[in-house]
Amino acid sequence: MIDYQAILDTITNSLKHSAVKGEVASYIPELGKVKDTNFGMFLNLVDGEKYGSGDWDKPFSIQSISKVLTLSRAVPLVGNKIFDRVDVEPSGNPFNHMALLELEKGIPRNPLINSGSIVIADMLLSHLENPKEDFLQYVRDLTNDQSISYNEKVAASESETGFNNYAAANLLKSFDNLENEVEEVLDFYFHQCSIEMTCEQLSNAFYMFANRGKCMRNTAHLTLNQVKRINAIMLTCGFYDEAGEFAFEVGLPGKSGVGGGIAALLPNEFTITCWAPGLNEKGNSYLGMQALELFTTQTKRSIF
Ligand code: DON
Repeated sequence: MIDYQAILDTITNSLKHSAVKGEVASYIPELGKVKDTNFGMFLNLVDGEKYGSGDWDKPFSIQSISKVLTLSRAVPLVGNKIFDRVDVEPSGNPFNHMALLELEKGIPRNPLINSGSIVIADMLLSHLENPKEDFLQYVRDLTNDQSISYNEKVAASESETGFNNYAAANLLKSFDNLENEVEEVLDFYFHQCSIEMTCEQLSNAFYMFANRGKCMRNTAHLTLNQVKRINAIMLTCGFYDEAGEFAFEVGLPGKSGVGGGIAALLPNEFTITCWAPGLNEKGNSYLGMQALELFTTQTKRSIF
């Protein structure tokens, strides 16, 4: 028997007080106010056991981790047509890199970089009557938690400084790869990124990717084939130009966000989340990467 609680506590105690923590993202000014001393982890075993350590119950901005959830919302609605407008190749470039639009066709490299997620946001706008309300309700249903919300301050803060995303959305529009207006699409995108969750809520939201498409409430949201594909995209594209490093060190499909969160999973076994707001130079949580490497090494549980 693995003593998961002891392992999480040991990792938390060893990393929480690290002198080097990385840099908290400040290009979204509201995020820059978060203390770099926060550190939390949460683990859900598919069989129902749960373990938390450190600041696992403090809400944080999930940012790019939301890109997996908008994708999983879009997949049953739009089907394989998604992949006519967004590719599924790792980018090898930073999350906000403009070259990620293949310029001849205006097709983003994958749905987990900014330009790709902006196209997914556009699809949700075209398919849903009240996109922001619908998406929030989807996240609340997945986690079985009605308290989850957008952070309007964070969404507004990103909108004020989101020049790069405006440029990407305009470029997509010029290639006819946005059906809706740039302002509307980005309003949705900035809101999806502003959702706040605790490590526990985020781990609950990702439970369906480990549980063959069924969420915490045992409702089937995705088919096995859809789960396989989304997990494959997380493994190859979830950490931008550090996806190889995450597979090498941690060995799980996962996704990071500039709020310092990481969500990862072992299919049929567990979901695990970590939050440490300091980022490395690639924009992924500096201590979060280390924490998950320690976890999969000590438990000997990874997809490899
Ligand atoms: O669009 C942005 O720049 C942010 N809302 C999200 C970026 C992000 O989280 C990248 N993650 N590592």
